[in-house]
Amino acid sequence: MKILSGTSNLNLSKDISKSLKLKLVNTNIKRFADGEIYIEINENIRGNSVFVIQSTSNPANDNLMELLLIIDALKRSSAKNITAVIPYFGYARQDRKVVPRTSISAKVVANLLTNAGASRILTVDLHAGQIQGFFDMPVDNLFTTPLFARYIKKKLKKKNLICVSPDVGGVQRTRGLATKIAADLAIIDKRRPAPGKSRVMNIIGDVKGKTCIIVDDIIDSGGTIVNAVAALKKSGAEDVYVFTTHGVLSGEAVKKIQSSKIKKLVITDSIDNSKKIKNHSKIEVLSISNLMAEAIKRISNSTSVSDLFN
Ligand code: R5P
Repeated sequence: MKILSGTSNLNLSKDISKSLKLKLVNTNIKRFADGEIYIEINENIRGNSVFVIQSTSNPANDNLMELLLIIDALKRSSAKNITAVIPYFGYARQDRKVVPRTSISAKVVANLLTNAGASRILTVDLHAGQIQGFFDMPVDNLFTTPLFARYIKKKLKKKNLICVSPDVGGVQRTRGLATKIAADLAIIDKRRPAPGKSRVMNIIGDVKGKTCIIVDDIIDSGGTIVNAVAALKKSGAEDVYVFTTHGVLSGEAVKKIQSSKIKKLVITDSIDNSKKIKNHSKIEVLSISNLMAEAIKRISNSTSVSDLFN
């Protein structure tokens, strides 16, 4: 078994490599003058099972293309099988036609990965579970709920907790965490008047005097979370903590969070935000490197991955 990293999140790849006590494959990933990507693998990988680690985060198109070219290089170098390890799976939010004449980007990405030569996908908190069905190969989708539950129990030590889903689509994820920490459940009725804009219509559940834990898979512009926090505070919530797996954090998101009434935003390192969030006291990062390393080990040994969550 070998592990190899793209350039989107080298810090996470290095941590996974440390945890597995396995060196990253030596590669040469460069750009031509016009921006095209050049991939060269500097060691023999013939007959190996290779895990390629690459988040398809911003710049999504470049990082996706880099991943596809690495997979192609591995296939042409006679790797036995290729697992695309995609801690943050970009383009997942367009997973169906919500209005006529739109594309289903998650399916396009699935086709691209398949055609490039991937034989398995390993990812974390996929935006919608059904995306697994877009692939005709095994897809292992890891969950961060146990990581968040451990943090809440150890560090927050709060009573009167209520987990809040910021929209109807996130209820299953939120219920999972609520069960683990024995908290109540509330749901926000969110509407999107236009892409990238969100509005809170109603809060289903009683949050008055409670410590709210909002759970979401992605924080992008921050609009969903900042609006949810404001609505919860208006309804009498004591404190609001936010747990989000993927810190996309586009545009003014970090500023918005810093000036909102969020007590703390906890994200993971599925996307490298080390520069963006430096010196921002409200944002904390939990690492998924051990979780990913353990899953890679189990895939390689053909042992259960789901046991990690039981
Ligand atoms: C939506 O379905 C997702 O789970 C997130 O709530 C959404 O992508 C967050 O986007 P933003 O931070 O731009 O509101």
